Amino acid sequence: MSVRKIRVLGDEILGKVSKPVKEMNEKTGKLIEDMLETMYDAGGVGLAAVQVGVLKRIVVIDVTEEANNPIILINPSITKAEGEQTGSEGCLSVPGKSGEVTRPEYIEVEALDENMEPVKLSGNGLLARAFAHELDHLDGKMYVDLVEGRLYDVNEEEQEDE
Ligand code: NI
Repeated sequence: MSVRKIRVLGDEILGKVSKPVKEMNEKTGKLIEDMLETMYDAGGVGLAAVQVGVLKRIVVIDVTEEANNPIILINPSITKAEGEQTGSEGCLSVPGKSGEVTRPEYIEVEALDENMEPVKLSGNGLLARAFAHELDHLDGKMYVDLVEGRLYDVNEEEQEDE
């Protein structure tokens, strides 16, 4: 496994639509392993393949405090969204920043797992937010376009919380 370079806001690839994965092979398996390592290395809770420069519909998510329970989603789609939550959101492709974004409170997702087997997942709160944020990446959408108010420096926000 290796840590890959994370593309940052301004890189035009982040605005592109990713393509469905047709089959699992060694290259895609390696990509997923590297995405996990890259996400954990950067201390993030989610990463889409486009963020490491690969236009494939793959996301990895891990919202657990222990950071040891990854979710791998291939060709994911949202099948149900309910409620609303407004809260702070960040992105590994927008380092050092955060902003207020409104997302569904509950989301159901259908996808394929790393064995290309269908899976159905659901999540509330932070997991729902991660589903929405990461799936947006697959369609070239960035959270900065959804921010209510302005983008904050992460340090500035921490000071405000004190
Ligand atoms: Ni992101």
